[in-house]
Amino acid sequence: MLHNSLLTTAAVLGAFLTQTVSSFSQLSARQTSLETYLTNEEPIAYKGVLDNIGSAGAKVDGAQPGIVVASPSKTDPDYFFTWTRDAALTLKALVDRFLVTKDPSLELLIQDYISSQAALQGVSNPSGSLSSGGLGEPKYYVDKTPFTGSWGRPQRDGPALRATASLAYAKYLIANGNATTAKDIIWPIVNNDLSYVTQYWNQTGFDLWEEVQGTSFFTIIAQHRALIEGSAVAKQLGLTCANCDSQAPQVRCLIQKLWSSSGGYMYADVNANNGRSGKGTNTILASIHSYDQSAACDDATFQPCSSRALSNLKVVADSFRSYQINSGIAQGQAVALGRYIEDVYYNGNPWYLTTTAAAEQLYYALSTWDRIGSITIDSVSLAFFRDIYPSAVAGTFTKGSATYASLTSAVKTFADGFFAIVQKYTPANGGLAEQYSKSNGSPLSAVDLTWSYAAFLTAKAARDGKLPPSWGAQGATSIPTTCSATSATGTYASATNTAWPGRPAPTCGAGTSFAVTFNVKATTAFGQNIFVAGSINQLKNWDATSAVPLSADQYSDSNPLWHGTVTIPGGTAFSYKYIRKDSNGAVTWESDPNRSYTVPTTCQNGQAVATLNDSFR
Ligand SMILES: *[C@@H]1O[C@H](CO)[C@@H](O)[C@H](O)[C@H]1NC(C)=O
Ligand SMILES: *[C@@H]1O[C@H](CO)[C@@H](O)[C@H](O)[C@H]1NC(C)=O
Ligand SMILES: *[C@@H]1O[C@H](CO)[C@@H](O)[C@H](O)[C@H]1NC(C)=O
Ligand SMILES: *[C@@H]1O[C@H](CO)[C@@H](O)[C@H](O)[C@H]1NC(C)=O
Repeated sequence: MLHNSLLTTAAVLGAFLTQTVSSFSQLSARQTSLETYLTNEEPIAYKGVLDNIGSAGAKVDGAQPGIVVASPSKTDPDYFFTWTRDAALTLKALVDRFLVTKDPSLELLIQDYISSQAALQGVSNPSGSLSSGGLGEPKYYVDKTPFTGSWGRPQRDGPALRATASLAYAKYLIANGNATTAKDIIWPIVNNDLSYVTQYWNQTGFDLWEEVQGTSFFTIIAQHRALIEGSAVAKQLGLTCANCDSQAPQVRCLIQKLWSSSGGYMYADVNANNGRSGKGTNTILASIHSYDQSAACDDATFQPCSSRALSNLKVVADSFRSYQINSGIAQGQAVALGRYIEDVYYNGNPWYLTTTAAAEQLYYALSTWDRIGSITIDSVSLAFFRDIYPSAVAGTFTKGSATYASLTSAVKTFADGFFAIVQKYTPANGGLAEQYSKSNGSPLSAVDLTWSYAAFLTAKAARDGKLPPSWGAQGATSIPTTCSATSATGTYASATNTAWPGRPAPTCGAGTSFAVTFNVKATTAFGQNIFVAGSINQLKNWDATSAVPLSADQYSDSNPLWHGTVTIPGGTAFSYKYIRKDSNGAVTWESDPNRSYTVPTTCQNGQAVATLNDSFR
């Protein structure tokens, strides 16, 4: 599964595969040069990602095809779920890798991911159904059933990130004569996600760290990019996304409002009363997600080389200098970065993926300066440059000049410094957990975090000059004179076509996952909600407290429909009942007898779907 151009010869690869663990334990990663570490760690990181993706992933038994599990860790913490965000960021990294390697097995995995998302979009969950906010649900069980426990929901970056990951593959298909596949299979999924973004971008939600309810800088950057890229791909497919076009400038307007000119940083969150300084690495992740290899150093889209993003990197990095493992590291040198300094999760520690993000931002900045042929230092970025090159002054320095050479060399050293920190705290077997201790650097929290590995891969690719394709940032720099609170409601429709050309049609049988839709007509008063519970795990074993919520988004007086979709293996026989809950928590079960149903084992139009049509008794 490893990509062999990473190592010089197949023989080296073979030797490496069999000796990965022992060679690392004989020579700890921290004792080798950075180059050696990066070369050795890359195949480990790639394998680390693949091991966590169903259904073939070595560490994630039970995960459905294309489902990206956050970590194999099932206790302390339990990350054995698929998060829409983590999965999409991971897949974006894999698509970008596929564009370089053209590895056919990787392409199948990308298709499996997209198919899995088509199904997940239809899974009713505590955030709603497909058309009533359900796309903002943060995480699901790895068998695609909804997680119904309490959680920080909704999280509005997920649909945007999923659109961006899916569009990356759609663009490849369009460029290679497969626009029909992009239009028939991928666009319906992307359209749902874009509809979610245009409808909800101006409402608060939980941030990527799942703690703050407000407006997260990372989320609005992700939403903005999805709208710009989505509209461009729509045009390529002969379609339009008018709501993308109407909302994107307003999202961009809001992006600018999070800039603290006095502090020289982007607020990580606003519209939230969380007692924090607002300095956080969510903004650094935002700059790398917004990076466009064809853009200039634009502040408007927070390009990695923009004055604002560089100033922000300095201010945010400085906010972590108080960690014990950073003590004694001079100003202007890289340090271990966490999420934000007020963090208390696992006592608040640096993370691998936030530390590599700083390196990645700086490698992208170097790429842009190289392409445009100059570096401009202004009053906003001067403090950043002075830290790493004390004689820096404002001005424009062209490629070929001594100052340009000194500045880029200083930035490269600074960038490599962040990778060297990650190297120092990578354990002997190369595994990347979620965090490393702020006091002694030992790995903490979830082991083998998929996102840590994916973040390593994208930062390494940036260092190697393998740049992700442009998303259209050059055309997205004008800022409306007035920012307005807006929203546009688009269309949602089940994405049912997952018949990828060149692949055998899906077969249905006992054990295949069927999307079973429960339709029940139940007249309800305001504040009353309808749920379904039954005799199987998927229906919560008759537990009224955790019963599966149904959606009323298609409810009308003439058709009082409540509905929801649950994934159940073909051939499963079960009994069930609907439940009404009043706003005061009072529970009413349907009258006897129990209902019963057996999930079919044959496909309908090539799809593993079934529909129940009931009336509340
Ligand atoms: C909605 O947009 C307005 C205008 O930019 C902004 O002031 C407000 O903070 C936004 N609210 C949210 C929750 O995004
Ligand atoms: C792309 O088009 C080629 C040629 O028609 C076809 O063989 C292949 O299956 C298509 N692939 C996808 C993913 O659409
Ligand atoms: C319905 O199922 C529940 C749980 O198995 C059981 O306790 C109850 O007796 C059943 N009701 C009828 C009428 O069979
Ligand atoms: C429910 O209605 C749909 C649409 O009319 C139909 O296809 C399906 O077979 C019905 N389900 C059952 C269990 O009869």
